[in-house]
Formats: sequence, C-alpha cells, structure tokens
Amino acid sequence: MERIIIVANQKGGVGKTSTVVNLAAGLVQLGHRVAVIDLDSQGALTISLGFDPYTVRPSTYNLLLDENIAFADVLKDTGKNIALAPANAELIAAEYKLYSQSERTERLRNILQLPREPFDFILIDTAPNLGLVTVNGLAAAHELLIPVAANYLSMRGVRSLLDSVWLIREKLNPQLKLLGVLPTLVHPKAAHAKSAIYEMKTVFKQKVFHAFIPYDDVAATAPAMRKSVLEYAPNSAVATAYLYLAKEVSYAK
Ligand SMILES: Nc1ncnc2c1ncn2[C@@H]1O[C@H](COP(=O)(O)OP(=O)(O)OP(=O)(O)O)[C@@H](O)[C@H]1O
Ligand SMILES: [Mg+2]
Repeated sequence: MERIIIVANQKGGVGKTSTVVNLAAGLVQLGHRVAVIDLDSQGALTISLGFDPYTVRPSTYNLLLDENIAFADVLKDTGKNIALAPANAELIAAEYKLYSQSERTERLRNILQLPREPFDFILIDTAPNLGLVTVNGLAAAHELLIPVAANYLSMRGVRSLLDSVWLIREKLNPQLKLLGVLPTLVHPKAAHAKSAIYEMKTVFKQKVFHAFIPYDDVAATAPAMRKSVLEYAPNSAVATAYLYLAKEVSYAK
C-alpha cells in the first residue's frame, strides 16, 4: 500500500524541507520507491534535488490548476531514485486561483487517486502556512509528520498547529493520522534542547520519534551541493539520524 506522508509545521525553518529530502534518501536506501511533492512556492525542495524553480515546468501549480494533467506529467527524474513534483513561484498564484475552483481543497487528492504508477512512499513538503495549497496536501495525505525545532518557543506552536490540522481533518480527511513528531535542530549539548524533547514526550508521548536530528552545519551545506546529507556526509550524525528515522517510518503501522 502506498503511503502518502505530509511534512508540515506552520512555523518556518524547523527542518521540513531537510526532512523530506533526507527521509526520501533514507527510504530509497531501504529499497523503497519514493516520490516527493514540493508544495512550497519557494521551491527549496526543488532546488535541493537539483532543479531550478525559475525554469522548471510543469510544476505543482499545473497539477493544482490545469485540467487534463496527470501526476506523471509533472514528475522529474532527480537521478537519485526519487521522483520530484517540483514547485516554482507560480504556486503563489495557486493560493488565490484555487478559491474559485469547486474542488479547491481536494484537487491534489483527486489527481493522486487517478490510475497511475504506485510508489511505496510519497512525501509532501509544505510552506510554513496553512493556506489552500497546504490544505490540498493535508487532504491528500494519509499521515502527518511534524518536525519541531527543539527549543521552547517551537514547542508552543505545535498544539495550535494540531488544533488547526484536526479541524481540517474533520472536514476533509478523517483518515489522516499523526505519524509522529520529529525533534529537529537539536543542539547536542544544550540543556534547553533536552528539556524541549522532554516536553515533546510529555505532550505527544509515544508519537515522538525515537530519531532526533542533531544540529550540524552539514545539513545546511548538503543542499547547496544538491545532495542529501546521506549522500554528502554519510557518516555524519545527521545522516545516521535520518536513516534511523526512515527505518522508524517504514516499520510504523
Ligand atoms: N539538522 C540541521 N542542522 C543545521 N542546520 C539545519 C538542519 N536542518 C536544516 N538546517 C538548516 O536550517 C534551515 C531551515 O531548514 P529547512 O529549510 O529544512 O526548514 P523548513 O521548515 O523547510 O523551512 P521553511 O519553513 O522556510 O520551508 C536551512 O538553512 C537548513 O539548511
Ligand atoms: Mg521548507
């Protein structure tokens, strides 16, 4: 069964895109067929996987707004065994153009439900907001993965994110379940990081992944090289953590 996992947090810079890139790379290493969908108009996922958002066409904008387009039409071969549905700045326009559409919230789900080549995992990267494009992702997904930066202020936003997500779930996608909360940007020696993870476990209990992602500059350097951390620094703690996360995700029911 194909699993569609959305990576979301309305807070910016918490490691959503890094998690999509590196979890995808980890799942590929475990032998899975993987596609990723960029739903952020900034195209950070698209750039990280080697494409230029200024020139890449068609994109997820077309997927959301053009008629007679299939998922396969927008997929790019990244050369990493990861198929990419890229994004570009046109996606900003999708946000208001979708408003006048009858299937404004279910467009992505409807497209993904058409007959097509199946994957083992489809990972969706989202922008740091809960606009219509993100809502399309939430309506299409089976599972939600929330990266949370391991500091006090980040933790505070997660409950309100979940409140909004559960409202959307009730209306659009009752089957959506919380796959897990992933502590990211964990400063190995900082006391505040430990207490943030402790607080996450108090609130989300067994929904917090055992994997946590350490803070390390390799995670910022790898995308500049158009590589996942698993390719760029396979022996780093960040690579090890993402591979561990891939195992947890692939074994999760
Ligand atoms: N484990 C890490 N250690 C150090 N830096 C990291 C780590 N993970 C991500 N970064 C860096 O932190 C920044 C934010 O990461 P990322 O782009 O993955 O977050 P995001 O949640 O997708 O951001 P946005 O909300 O803007 O889409 C990037 O510059 C990234 O390279
Ligand atoms: Mg991002």
